[in-house]
This record gives sequence, structure tokens and C-alpha cells, in this order.
Amino acid sequence: MNDLNLPIHIGIIMDGNGRWATKRGLKRSEGHKEGAKTLKKLCIYLNKRGIKYLSLYAFSTENFKREENEVNYLMDLFIQLFKTEFNTLKKENIKVIFSGRKEPLKDEVWLSMQTITNETKDNTGCILNICLNYGSQFEIADTTKRICQMYINKEISLDTIDPVFIQKNLYQDLPPLDLVIRTGGEMRLSNFMLFQASYAELFFTNTYFPDFNEKELEEILTTFLKRNRRFGGN
Ligand code: FPP
Repeated sequence: MNDLNLPIHIGIIMDGNGRWATKRGLKRSEGHKEGAKTLKKLCIYLNKRGIKYLSLYAFSTENFKREENEVNYLMDLFIQLFKTEFNTLKKENIKVIFSGRKEPLKDEVWLSMQTITNETKDNTGCILNICLNYGSQFEIADTTKRICQMYINKEISLDTIDPVFIQKNLYQDLPPLDLVIRTGGEMRLSNFMLFQASYAELFFTNTYFPDFNEKELEEILTTFLKRNRRFGGN
């Protein structure tokens, strides 16, 4: 495969954990636990494959509407993963960053996010951007507020504001998404990196996230390389 044309930035909407578990007569939490294993495998694989940026939709601002038990389980899982399980990713030279709002995350979750960010800040491999307590519409609103404040402070003029400037002022300054994959059979973006996904190639698979693997990912990459990306041109 011609690695030169591989996507620079891949986004994954990790959907189907709950259904994976229900199908097996297990608790939904078991699906999330299994999803976490898949996530680790995929990160290691994509880092080795030379992918520079990987963004994952871990928890949306709307996910706080789920049952308290499930939200608490997921928060504890995040803490455990960032504190211990992510040691493997650290050793693999992966740099972890986050996109999202702080409120209403508990201090312990926020602290574990800051710790893993600090511990991996000098790593030079794949940049793993975890969208946690994230919503794209909130991101755009928060960015707009920040830019308005710069204007009020007379730090910028109106002419400064163009798409590149907006992108640089999102939660993280990352290149645009080239490829977005959603597992679990739904065909929508669900408020995931809408600005960054403007020209992304979209792939939807029925596979539930815990069953998603390197082989299917490689098939998607092969199809991606065959697509003709025109960016609005001919
Ligand atoms: C969506 O499946 C998945 C989530 C809301 C959680 C994703 C979390 C993980 C994979 C755990 C580890 C993550 C990180 C970043 C450390 P769903 O529950 O909506 O599944 P369903 O549509 O079948 O109900």
C-alpha cells in the first residue's frame, strides 16, 4: 500500500459497546470494558502504521444523560485506563491529549486526564486526541467566545478570522480529519468534530466496536486509498 497517501488524521466514533454486551446477555459495562481493549489494540496498530493523529469519541456531552450507573462506570473506567492501562501506550511513544469541557467532570477524572497528558507530552509518535465530555457544537461556541474576546481585547482584527484561524482556536490545533469511521451501524456524525470533518471520507460499519479489529481497519484504509478526494474541485 502506498503509505504516502494514508490519512494523516483518522477519527473513530466507537459505537456499539452496549449492544455487543446485550447480545451476549452481559451488562453494558462489559461492552465498554471490551471496547477499551479494542481501543488499545487499534492505537498501537495505527501508531506502528505511521498514522500521525487519531481522534476518538469516548464520551459526548450528551452521554451524561445516560443512567447514573453507566456514567459512573465509564468515569471509573477512564480513570483506571489513564492511570494504569495506558502505560502500554506511553511506552509505545503515543502522545495523549484531550478535547472537551471540564464541567461537570469529577476532579479525579480531570486529574487522571492531566496526568496522562503530562506523562506523554514529550512522546513523538501518534497523537491520540481523546474527545471526552465533548460536543462539536459546544466546541464551536466555546471557540467563537474566545475569538470574540480576542477581538474585544483588540488582539485581532475582523480580517484575522478565517477558517485556518478558527481551526487553530478549536480545543486542539489539529490537521483536518481525512477519514472518519463509525462502528455499530448508525450512519451519522453525532456532533463529532464537525468543523474538522468538513472534507473527511466517511466509513460506516455494522461491526460493534469491541469486535472491530486491525483487519477491518486495514480494509477501510485500502478503500480510502482508492477514493478520489476532490475537496470541492473537479
Ligand atoms: C458507545 O457505545 C461508546 C461509548 C459511549 C463509550 C466508549 C468508551 C470506550 C470504548 C472505553 C474506553 C475509552 C477510552 C477513550 C479510554 P454505546 O454504549 O453507545 O453502545 P450502544 O450504541 O450499543 O448502546
